[in-house]
Amino acid sequence: MDRQEIIEKTELFVKQTLSKDSTGHDWWHIHRVRNLAKRIARHEGANIFIVESAALLHDIGDYKFFQGDEEAGIAKVEEWLSSLEISPSLIDKIMEITSQISFMHTLPAKGERSNKKNFPIPTLSKELMSVTDADRLDAMGAIGIARAFTYGGFFNRPIYDPTVKPSKSITREEYKITESPSINHFYEKLLKLKDMMYTKLGRKMAKRRHRFLNLYLKHFFKEWKGKM
Ligand code: ADP
Ligand code: NI
Repeated sequence: MDRQEIIEKTELFVKQTLSKDSTGHDWWHIHRVRNLAKRIARHEGANIFIVESAALLHDIGDYKFFQGDEEAGIAKVEEWLSSLEISPSLIDKIMEITSQISFMHTLPAKGERSNKKNFPIPTLSKELMSVTDADRLDAMGAIGIARAFTYGGFFNRPIYDPTVKPSKSITREEYKITESPSINHFYEKLLKLKDMMYTKLGRKMAKRRHRFLNLYLKHFFKEWKGKM
């Protein structure tokens, strides 16, 4: 099985697995992250096969998030990769990315002190940085806004409630179970992403998407008050 075949098979597997998702983790999210991750990877000189495989599989492991079972998500990715003709060292590299990519993992656990930038991983591969930046960029800008309200709607969250303030230092446990309005998610996650980019191109693109988030919020609150 050559690499192109592995990618095509993986694409089909991911499409089938995520086909019923309406939480913002749909196939088109994977499609965008895959293309963006490859673009960043070319700038970084990262291994494109690892990046493309990991981008395709990054939310299969993230299924843990919805079922509350992290190990099951990781096992599912491993099972898939082991069914293909890929060397164990490549499998390790791909799995390192899919198991570490989640924003949730950058949050401190309950009782744990948050380090200022919330960067828990000491050495990062170019491949991990490329896929992570691409995934985070897809949570920002016009698309990020659409995804936040899609996610919020799926979990019956209101768009905004002025009596519920955003949590300043949300922990991993709170992030999982939060029932706060979707607008709060901008303050709890989306506006933080700009400073969490690992790559040069990621930072450049994040700047524009961040600006758009701020512009959106400005309009939102003006309209909320009936001033615009
Ligand atoms: P990641 O895969 O980076 O860990 P998540 O699984 O947390 O991302 O989120 C998937 C999508 O849903 C993202 O676009 C994210 O911004 C959005 N999302 C996550 N939690 C919330 C929330 N509480 N309210 C609104 N949108 C959310
Ligand atoms: Ni994702």
